[in-house]
Amino acid sequence: MSDDRSLSREVTCTVNGVKRAATVSVRRTLADFLRHDLGLTGTHLGCEHGVCGACTVLVDGRAVRGCLMLAVQAEDRAVTTVEGLAPDAASLHPLQAAFARHHALQCGFCTPGMLTTLVEFLAEVPEPTPTQVREAISGNLCRCTGYEPIVTATLEAAAAMRGQAA
Ligand code: FES
Ligand code: FES
Repeated sequence: MSDDRSLSREVTCTVNGVKRAATVSVRRTLADFLRHDLGLTGTHLGCEHGVCGACTVLVDGRAVRGCLMLAVQAEDRAVTTVEGLAPDAASLHPLQAAFARHHALQCGFCTPGMLTTLVEFLAEVPEPTPTQVREAISGNLCRCTGYEPIVTATLEAAAAMRGQAA
């Protein structure tokens, strides 16, 4: 008979700049850890098997599927969720502000995953073409927008971020 304690582990990581520690089942996904243990429900779960991109978060700056990574794999890593992209509603990330301006979300279900995916993308490709933006979000499904406003918003945000960096 298995010992239940052996199925749990302590995980310590930094989430949105704050050190967090919890005891989790070794089978707990990162997405469930964020949502259920830390209350960060901005990370959404759609397919739960790596297809839709709704659960995308940044781990050490890289976009990962929160439904495919285990919470224990986040040990000593830095996780950024959509809640960590801006300090408050009055100081939105340029991508968030551009999404709002261009109606790049309707139901908003895909939006946290879109934003985290695009944060990583724009860090690597600060001056993208529309085609590059479409490729970047090709693993993120949106049932509402038809994607075009997302592409427009991303191009505008990229220009704003280049302006800030200049
Ligand atoms: S919920 Fe993770 S990719 Fe769909
Ligand atoms: S805004 Fe509804 S799924 Fe993208």
